[in-house]
Amino acid sequence: MKKIKKAIIPAAGLGTRFLPETKAMPKEMLPVVDKPAIQLIVEEAIASGITDILIIIGKGKRAIEDHFDSNTELELNLESKGKDEMLKSVKETNGLNIYFKRQEHPNGLGDAVHTAKSFVGEDPFVIMLGDDLMTDETPLTKQLIDSYEETGSSTLAVMKVPHEDTSKYGVINPAKEVSDGLYDVTNFVEKPNPEDAPSDLAIIGRYLLTADIFDILENTKPGKGNEIQLTDAIDTLNKKGKVYAHEFKGDRYDTGNKFGWLQTNIEFGLKHPEVSDELKQYIKDLAKKLD
Ligand code: G1P
Repeated sequence: MKKIKKAIIPAAGLGTRFLPETKAMPKEMLPVVDKPAIQLIVEEAIASGITDILIIIGKGKRAIEDHFDSNTELELNLESKGKDEMLKSVKETNGLNIYFKRQEHPNGLGDAVHTAKSFVGEDPFVIMLGDDLMTDETPLTKQLIDSYEETGSSTLAVMKVPHEDTSKYGVINPAKEVSDGLYDVTNFVEKPNPEDAPSDLAIIGRYLLTADIFDILENTKPGKGNEIQLTDAIDTLNKKGKVYAHEFKGDRYDTGNKFGWLQTNIEFGLKHPEVSDELKQYIKDLAKKLD
């Protein structure tokens, strides 16, 4: 079986849940303590054995390209001042195989993924959404790759969400739990109202798909929101072959909305060696004031 080496990161969305901050700044560049969210996603990809990454961008997303480019002037400046730790941190993302593609018109996640067809070729690949952070002992992307190596089938990640939130996600209609946390799926539904939702298992931002998704995407009609939905194409793929759902049991952080971003920064801050002690004390003091 071929090793999974390619990932695509769709980052062309407008970030409307975070306006006005995202008017000029891509939501994927919002900081998680000291790194943009998209860097943490790239780190997850690399920790999972991915070697080639295509980031799908749109207008106003140049900061992402600059972030993954080297910055010689800054590097020379830090070097001359002996700021070795800082220099190390800015060079961390140099030399990676990261490619960029522009989605000309925002027309849904399915359309964004479709633009990656020639990058992907014939091999299975992963999709990692640019504002969903997942933490677990084994990176979620690696969990999907391990599952694929056992089943040979497309697999996407799902997680239990509160029932009233199903209208924010793609939701699965599970047929049977075939092994611990791995589901056979009857069908996939994009953003159902809670009263129509077939379960509370929501699709979160990691997918491992076989390349036949591209022919399906070509023939997928606009769905929810009049956009080409990846979930609809996956539903078709599942009818032609098989798409499993793997239940993620770790922590998920949605950095693309205001509350989610604040929460992410507090939790990642509490684990960050430079700021954790100070932040912990601050939160304790603040809690006393709020009582
Ligand atoms: C997209 C997908 C949805 C999925 C979600 C996960 O929606 O269309 O199926 O559940 O990502 O974050 P979006 O958040 O782009 O509206």
